Amino acid sequence: MITIKSEREIDLMRESGALVAQVLDLLQSEIRPGMTTKQLDIMAEEYIRDHQAIPSFLNYVPKGDPGVTPYPSTLCVSINEEVVHGVPSAKRVVREGDIVSVDCGVYKGGYHGDAARTFVLGMIDEKVQLLVDATSECLARGIAMAIAGNRLHDISSAIEDYARSYGFSVIENMVGHGIGSELHEDPAVPNYGRKNTGVKLREGMTLAIEPMIALGRSRRAVSRRGGWVAVTEDGKPSAHFEHTIVVRSGKAEILTGTFL
Ligand code: MF3
Ligand code: CO
Repeated sequence: MITIKSEREIDLMRESGALVAQVLDLLQSEIRPGMTTKQLDIMAEEYIRDHQAIPSFLNYVPKGDPGVTPYPSTLCVSINEEVVHGVPSAKRVVREGDIVSVDCGVYKGGYHGDAARTFVLGMIDEKVQLLVDATSECLARGIAMAIAGNRLHDISSAIEDYARSYGFSVIENMVGHGIGSELHEDPAVPNYGRKNTGVKLREGMTLAIEPMIALGRSRRAVSRRGGWVAVTEDGKPSAHFEHTIVVRSGKAEILTGTFL
């Protein structure tokens, strides 16, 4: 069931979203080659708890998948061929030339905010830089379609079309989602699809839109050794950007900062 949020609920989500944006701003300014992904995670968790909030991902158990181990961290930090759900570790160091997707969710005042950015460390391959820039633009184009009266897959097709215009590959088995008092609500928001299909968007729907786009041909992200992390099938790099937004009748309102 897709819920429509009241303006009171949206006010609360704006607070959660602002906190997510602050965490990502902090990490963006602090991340350096040589740091471990665990250091980033600790920084994020401290910041969130200092602001009377709880990390949304910590101890998260996917619905309908109770066999999976609860997610152990505040952030997902996914490097290069890792698409999403990289688990921070004291053994994992970020290096010059890496692209690092940092995904953060916070729960505050009864509502979640969820956003991700892909950071580029130092000099990187030109093609990989193009991937990162195009993925960020995919998100912008998806958000531009999140207008009341449009249909859900207008968002999806805008993302897919832009990614394909570069010959990049859309990861199809990972999707965006509705968000609110639950981290994952209806509807699923795929990053590919046919224009003019899917449910009608209505003012007050809150969505986490999150394109995951890869170099190469992989259309799926697969788990490595049964763990949380999902990687491209061909080992090529993947980028990921996410915002939590509210569907409005004019232009969508972005709740997780101004970054794009
Ligand atoms: N933004 C991601 C998602 O919506 C991060 C979830 S991590 C999890 O799926 F641990 F909560 F699953
Ligand atoms: Co999300």
